[in-house]
Amino acid sequence: MERTYVMIKPDGVQRNLAGEIITRFEKKGFKIVGLKLLQLNRAIAEKHYAEHVGKGFFEGLVEYITSGPVVAIVLEGKDVVATVRAMNGATNPANAAPGTVRGDYAIEVGRNVIHASDSVESAAREIAIYFSPEELVSYNKAADSWLYE
Ligand code: RTP
Ligand code: MG
Repeated sequence: MERTYVMIKPDGVQRNLAGEIITRFEKKGFKIVGLKLLQLNRAIAEKHYAEHVGKGFFEGLVEYITSGPVVAIVLEGKDVVATVRAMNGATNPANAAPGTVRGDYAIEVGRNVIHASDSVESAAREIAIYFSPEELVSYNKAADSWLYE
């Protein structure tokens, strides 16, 4: 089953949105297989956002993403990578549709509340940054047969 890496950013934690956001993914039917709270340091931020190193917004991004604790989550489910990206909405909340996390809870691109992997390959890379294999749990849920035919 496909997995993705989701991270509630420092603004989401400070604004008490963590529970509400996790609830959305639970209600959708995606399974939490990894979950922890941590604070990123610069080295982890540079690893996570390696594709953006050197860009104009990078220093601000590092300052933002290391500014407080984040909630790190691994979700599992059919097409979970693309579906969670759609549930989060456009990178710039000004363009994010109502009903998405960013559309409902954010205003500016530099405070956009949530991260999710943009491909299956990125997900594998990002999950390995935050979780050891023992911290990821494979398990069955009674509702699985009510979610998948
Ligand atoms: P993320 O990686 O955080 O899930 O966001 P994303 O894929 O939708 O967007 P990405 O292009 O990967 O950008 C990463 C994060 O950098 C900040 N950003 N600021 N000021 C700007 O022009 C700008 N562009 C990007 C955002 O916090 C974005 O989520
Ligand atoms: Mg990205």
